[in-house]
Amino acid sequence: MKIAVLYGGTSKEREVSLSTGEGMINALRQLGYDVVAIDFDPAKLTQHISELENVDFVLIGLHGKQGEDGRVQGFLELLGLPYLGSGVLASSLAMDKSRSKQIFANEGLPIARSQTFNKKMDVKEIYQQIINTFDCPFVIKPNQEGSTLGLTFVHHQEEIEKAIQLAFSHDDQLLVEDFVEGRELTVSVFGNQGEEEALPIIEIIPKNKYYDYEAKYSVGGSEHIVPAKIAEPLTDKIQSLAVKAHQALGCESYSRVDFILNEQDEPIILEVNTLPGMTPTSLYPDAAAAVGLNYEQMLDKLIGLAMK
Ligand code: DAL
Ligand code: MG
Repeated sequence: MKIAVLYGGTSKEREVSLSTGEGMINALRQLGYDVVAIDFDPAKLTQHISELENVDFVLIGLHGKQGEDGRVQGFLELLGLPYLGSGVLASSLAMDKSRSKQIFANEGLPIARSQTFNKKMDVKEIYQQIINTFDCPFVIKPNQEGSTLGLTFVHHQEEIEKAIQLAFSHDDQLLVEDFVEGRELTVSVFGNQGEEEALPIIEIIPKNKYYDYEAKYSVGGSEHIVPAKIAEPLTDKIQSLAVKAHQALGCESYSRVDFILNEQDEPIILEVNTLPGMTPTSLYPDAAAAVGLNYEQMLDKLIGLAMK
């Protein structure tokens, strides 16, 4: 079977995506698949169409815009090529933090209070509305971005303007969100639609104060505790919330749902990642390892599920 891996890409998460793609490519080769590695660039679509000829299945190792947000999934749909992971709509919704939060709220899933602002609005007006509504500390982040890029933890009002500019340099919309103090958790979801299971919860202990880009991607930047030390009833609740969040957006095959467990032990959903990092040191492969699946076995199982 011939499997293509789309990776790299042009988003701001390119570096992470190169590493995810390399992880996938190495694993597929070890599993004996015929691999076509494609560093994906929308400017080279014609070339990619010919590279994808005779390919049976596609893995998307891209992160961020132009990869995780439904566009590449749409391209593959038009080509009639099966691929692993969420479809166009679920990918777009998950990438749009504001819209996915509206859906979570409708489903009664716990989220942090937030407000969305558009770049067309006057910055002074945005500033005013923020200080009328939010008390420090709070978070300002681009509505569509990953890996905490463009995100600021605001501790003082003087930081707001710069944080607004930074978030708008990544996206035309930003989200201001209450900062939830607590434990950083993540839950990997696995399985076909209607039969999803949550893998063991991982607690992340960042070496930095926050689980930021550096803590995420530098060697030793964070410690993963798996399974997280959480009492069983609460573990069950968090795992069930993860599956519900995945299903609420209509995700497929796999995703990783990020949480904060607040100081009252209430899990708050931050977001669903439809193409979670699959670098050899990423969270999703760590959760799979906790149920006895190494990287190759995890990938082979995902491919097997998707091809059912
Ligand atoms: N956006 C990164 C790749 C993640 O969620 O793992
Ligand atoms: Mg993300």
